[in-house]
Amino acid sequence: MDFRTQVAAAGATSQLAVDALLLLIAADTVPAGLDDAIAAAVSDAVRDGDLVLKAGKTLYLHRLPGLKSSRLAVAVAGKDTPKAVKAAAAAGLALLKAQGIKHVGVQIAGVEALQAGHAEAVAAAVGDAAYLYRTTKPSAPAAPALSRITVLARDKAEAERLAGGLSCGAAIAKGVTLARELANRPGNHCTPSDLAAEARRLGKQYKLKVDVLDRKAIEALGMGSFLAVAQGSDQPPRFIVVHYNGAAKKQAPVVLVGKGITFDTGGISLKPGEGMDEMKFDMGGAASVLGTLCAVAELGAKVNLIGVIAASENMPGGKAVKPGDVVTSMSGQTIEILNTDAEGRLVLCDALTYTERFKPAVVVDIATLTGACVIALGAVRSGLFSPDDGLAGELLAAGDAALDPCWRMPVDEEYDEALKSNFADMGNIGGRPGGSITAAMFLKRFTGKLRWAHLDIAGTAWKSGAAKGATGRPVGLLTHYVLSQGQ
Ligand code: BES
Ligand code: MN
Ligand code: ZN
Repeated sequence: MDFRTQVAAAGATSQLAVDALLLLIAADTVPAGLDDAIAAAVSDAVRDGDLVLKAGKTLYLHRLPGLKSSRLAVAVAGKDTPKAVKAAAAAGLALLKAQGIKHVGVQIAGVEALQAGHAEAVAAAVGDAAYLYRTTKPSAPAAPALSRITVLARDKAEAERLAGGLSCGAAIAKGVTLARELANRPGNHCTPSDLAAEARRLGKQYKLKVDVLDRKAIEALGMGSFLAVAQGSDQPPRFIVVHYNGAAKKQAPVVLVGKGITFDTGGISLKPGEGMDEMKFDMGGAASVLGTLCAVAELGAKVNLIGVIAASENMPGGKAVKPGDVVTSMSGQTIEILNTDAEGRLVLCDALTYTERFKPAVVVDIATLTGACVIALGAVRSGLFSPDDGLAGELLAAGDAALDPCWRMPVDEEYDEALKSNFADMGNIGGRPGGSITAAMFLKRFTGKLRWAHLDIAGTAWKSGAAKGATGRPVGLLTHYVLSQGQ
C-alpha cells in the first residue's frame, strides 16, 4: 500500500487524478471547504433528499461535471472523531468496488484541524476494504486493486500530522491483514508447523531472529502443561519465539505471548459440533502477535519486542490428556486438568514462565480464551485483566487511540479460590460464574515475577454469521501500546 498526503489548494480535490474520490463529511451540515462542483452537488443532493446528513449515509455520483475523477463517493461521519471518520470511510469504500479502482483520493471535510488519528482511521478502513480471503477459495473474485490513497490536507502542518497518521495506519493495516489472513486459514492449512513457517517468513522479511522449538526442545524445558494439550494430536507442537530489536540491548523488552491453538476440538471434553469450525480461529492471539511484530518492524520502532507463541492442536485421541490427569508445569506447579477444553490457559502458563528469562519490562498475553468473555463483553471490547493499574491504564489508552478498545475486568484474589484442587496445586477451571476471570486468575499464578496483563479476545478476534472471518484485533491496540514504550 502506498499512502500519501497532498496539500490541496482551492479546487484541488476536483482536479485530483485518481480512480475515485471519497468525500467524508465529518459534520451534520454541508461543510465549508469543498470545491465548487462538489459543494453544489452535495447541497443539491441534501436538498432533494438523496443524501441525508446522518452517520452512515452515503451517496455515489458518476461523472460529475467539473471533476477529473469519474467516481465520487460521499459518506457521512456526522461527527469529527476518528471513530466516526473510520465508519464513514468503510461505508464509502463499500461503494467503490469496481475493479479498476486502485487510487482513491480522500477529503475529510468538517473537521477544524485534522489530526493524525483521522488519517490513521482512514488507513485502517482502507486496509480492511482491500483485504479479501482467497487462499483456499480459487473461485473468489479478484482481490481488490485498491493500493493507494491520497489524503488531502489544507496546510503543511496538517499534512505532516496526516502523513504521520497514514504511515502508522498503513503499518497497522499490514499487521491486521497478516493476522486476519492467518486466522482465516483452516486448521489443515494452518498447523503449528505452518505458523512457525509464517513466523520464519516474517523474520526473513524484516530481519528478525526467529527460534522454533520442537517437541523435544519443549520437553527439555519441562513444559508439562503445554505438552499435555499437544499430546492428543498427530500434528507436532511448536514453540515460536520472534525477536525484534529496535532499541539498545540493555533496554528491557516488551513480550507478547499468543495462544496458538490452531484447532480446538475441546479434546476429550469434546465441544458440540455446531459452530466448531470457528475454533480454527483459536490461534487469533498468536496471529495478533505476528501481526504486531509486522507493524512494529514496518515502522522501525525504537523498542525491543519479543513475540512468543505456544502453538498446538487440541484433539481427542488415544494419547490425549484426560479429565482428572495431573501435569507439572514449567514453573513446577501441578495442575489437575478437570476439563481438557480449558486448554488455552494450559499452553499459556508455560509460555508465561518461559518469558521470565527475558527480564521483560512488560508481558502481555493475548488469547481467544473463554466463551464467558464473549458473554460478558460481546464483540465490541476485548477483556483486559491486570493487577497493575498503570499497565492497565496504558493498554486501555492504546485501545482507545487505535479504535480497538478493551475493558478492564477485575482480578480480586477472591476469584482465585475457584481454582482449588484436592489433587494438585490448582485445577484448570473454576465454575461457570466469572469464567473469564477465573481463567485470568489461573494465568496470574504464573506471573509472580512479571509486570503482566492478559487480553481475552474471544469475542473480538473474529466475527460469526454472514461476515464470518477474522478481524485482526487487537493488532491496533498492541501496536499503539508497543510504540508508546519506544524512545
Ligand atoms: N477457545 C475456547 C474459548 C472460546 C469459546 C472462544 C467460544 C470463542 C468462542 C477455549 O479453549 C475454551 O474452550 N474455553 C472453555 C473453558 C471452559 C471449559 C472452562 C469455554 O469458554 O467454554
Ligand atoms: Mn477449548
Ligand atoms: Zn481454545
